[in-house]
Amino acid sequence: MKGKFIVFEGGDKSGKSTQIKLLQKYLKKKGHKVLLTREPGGKGSVIAEKIRKIILNKRHKEMDKRAELLLFLASRAQHVMETVKPALEQGKIILCDRFDASTYAYQAAARNLDPEVIKYVNNWAKYGLEPDYSIYLDITPEEAAERRRDEKEDRLDSEAREFHELVRQGYLQQAEENGNWLTVSAVGDIEAIAKQIQAGIDKIL
Ligand SMILES: Nc1ncnc2c1ncn2[C@@H]1O[C@H](COP(=O)(O)OP(=O)(O)OP(=O)(O)O)[C@@H](O)[C@H]1O
Ligand SMILES: [Mg+2]
Repeated sequence: MKGKFIVFEGGDKSGKSTQIKLLQKYLKKKGHKVLLTREPGGKGSVIAEKIRKIILNKRHKEMDKRAELLLFLASRAQHVMETVKPALEQGKIILCDRFDASTYAYQAAARNLDPEVIKYVNNWAKYGLEPDYSIYLDITPEEAAERRRDEKEDRLDSEAREFHELVRQGYLQQAEENGNWLTVSAVGDIEAIAKQIQAGIDKIL
């Protein structure tokens, strides 16, 4: 019995939380056992969720970028072992809001940390776990800023436009290089986007 590990990726405000909930509903209706989780942090993991709070705290403006990377990876190691692997063994479909493509987009492409270092430490931290399928919601920094206007921001939301552009380029490069990726425009009717995601998922299940 082996489940599936499905990851949602995309810049801030790209609609990940919106779409992941719609897919959860869709899969549950079809009778699948679904676990919804996220990074940093993780469903049911007290330790990973505590690390999430440290990372996203708006007062932590002086956070060093290497310290930040290691916190993300500490959260990931805990999340993989405590939440994801057990659920996979139970045959569940795990829907995860962000995983390591976020690390390459934010920490390597945008923060300019050495991708080779990230690759090595990330693979170690995640116990080699690879997503079965990644759904990437593509949004421009301008469209994201529009959506961000009325919402409460965290430390990473409030980065400059240039930062969000580097994040996007980091994702687009991975979309080209990786198999098992579905790239969907994040702009447009929410239900229409959900349909595209469902079609992609139907193919792999
Ligand atoms: N297709 C869409 N068109 C317009 N607005 C949308 C669309 N999808 C989501 N939104 C809105 O954009 C905002 C951000 O959506 P959501 O929280 O799902 O994104 P997110 O990627 O999870 O963001 P975050 O990075 O903050 O976690 C919300 O107010 C949501 O209602
Ligand atoms: Mg979200």
